[in-house]
Amino acid sequence: MSEIFEARDWDAAGRIGRLSVPRAGVTVETPTIMPVVNPHIQTIPPRELAERFGAEILITNSYILHGSDDLREEALSRGLHDLLDFPGAIMTDSGSFQLSEYGEIDVTSAEILDFQRAIGSDIATPVDIPTPPEAVRESAEIELETTQERLERASEFDAGDMLLSAPVQGSTYPDLRESAGEHAAGTGLDVFPVGAVVPLMNDYRYGEMIDVVMAAKRGLGPAAPVHLFGAGHPMMFALAVAAGCDLFDSAAYAIYARDGRYLTVRGTDHLADLDYFPCSCPVCAEFSPAEVEAHDETERLLSEHNLHVSFGEIRRIKQAIRSGTLLELVETRARGHPTMLDGYRALLSHVDELERTDPASKTTFFYLSGESARRPEVFRHHRRLERLSVPDSLLLADGSAEGIDAEEVWAVRPPFGPVPDELAETYPANAEIPDRLDAEAYAAAARGVAKLAEANPDCEVTLVAEWPDRALAALPETVRVEPTDSSREGSDEGP
Ligand code: GUN
Ligand code: ZN
Repeated sequence: MSEIFEARDWDAAGRIGRLSVPRAGVTVETPTIMPVVNPHIQTIPPRELAERFGAEILITNSYILHGSDDLREEALSRGLHDLLDFPGAIMTDSGSFQLSEYGEIDVTSAEILDFQRAIGSDIATPVDIPTPPEAVRESAEIELETTQERLERASEFDAGDMLLSAPVQGSTYPDLRESAGEHAAGTGLDVFPVGAVVPLMNDYRYGEMIDVVMAAKRGLGPAAPVHLFGAGHPMMFALAVAAGCDLFDSAAYAIYARDGRYLTVRGTDHLADLDYFPCSCPVCAEFSPAEVEAHDETERLLSEHNLHVSFGEIRRIKQAIRSGTLLELVETRARGHPTMLDGYRALLSHVDELERTDPASKTTFFYLSGESARRPEVFRHHRRLERLSVPDSLLLADGSAEGIDAEEVWAVRPPFGPVPDELAETYPANAEIPDRLDAEAYAAAARGVAKLAEANPDCEVTLVAEWPDRALAALPETVRVEPTDSSREGSDEGP
């Protein structure tokens, strides 16, 4: 797998990668979306997806083609690329989704793999079993075992230069997802979709979705290209990329358009409710909402806008990775919808995992909300504090501290805590933070002071700061706390 996927720039667990797809003779830049193409109805022809929207890869369902009297033979004789008229890479799904919706399908994993190879798929998928959230553990285990047997058989399949995907299942059991990820990576297959997350996304359960993804990622490791099966809403792309997802497949652009829904990076609007378009894509620049509604191609126009906004968000995410501002972007998206805030908070609860691939230096850290205090940079700074060498007596000063003796004086800066001189001008301690800080920033700074004090029990630590009582109360008793200079003067004056 490592030969076909190369990750270049990182931010948190997100990365810009290059996936080579040898059967298509192309390399796809990730993260990206694979528009879902229904072989029967194409609101936007696949060639236009490539030429007007920049789609490098799309996904279609081989099970639908296999079961279609009018398209099956054509797909076999002409091949998928010719049939769909698409110049990029084509991934195919296997019918597993139909299996999860209708309870049965009429092909075996081996048959549908054969068919995918025969129609010229570039990335084929075996029949995995999408176990829904909260399935009883025993059925999640039994179904996972079946999926794993099929992946093992797929790894023995003579695929030639066609890539194979290895879906990761395990329902909402983190340990099952993790072992499924480990097993999938061990099969030597190529692309790793995290499956059965559609029910979570349909219910806006982004916190649980992130826990599922992070568990799968722990098993897969950072080198594996990861696809989030069925994820197509642009509002969650940045979050999922920061968790380490590389590929999305969007049917949302078409499905939402069908019932008059307009996608934005903050959520979904109904066309009928809009008086203005908050977008400058070609559709929104040319028409007003009323004109789109009155148009005889409303669905097509909405699909086009939905795709523009989706690809636009992908470009914004890639640029954010390059600039080192992906978490600022995720934080902004988290403010758009409460369920996204849940997703971001869940992501930050895996801060130790994010920290492993997060670059040591980026452009200036922006403190934007209480969540910023839980970012991997703060976590890393706190770990670093435990290893710094300290003098016998150390003064930590957030504000002026004249008249207090100590061998050394370090700054102390929320949310990081103690910052020795040599780190003061470097990332992340040179952060932009607001003057009016929140409780989370002080609490994180207090954790930093505590880490330093606890790692150096022989050092006499004095903190000079005007912090909220709650943050000060969290300090170990060995830390002496003094008010700042100005407030010491103030209290001297008296009435
Ligand atoms: N499409 C959406 N979810 C899934 C899944 O779990 N497996 C497969 N094969 N396709 C999907
Ligand atoms: Zn638009």
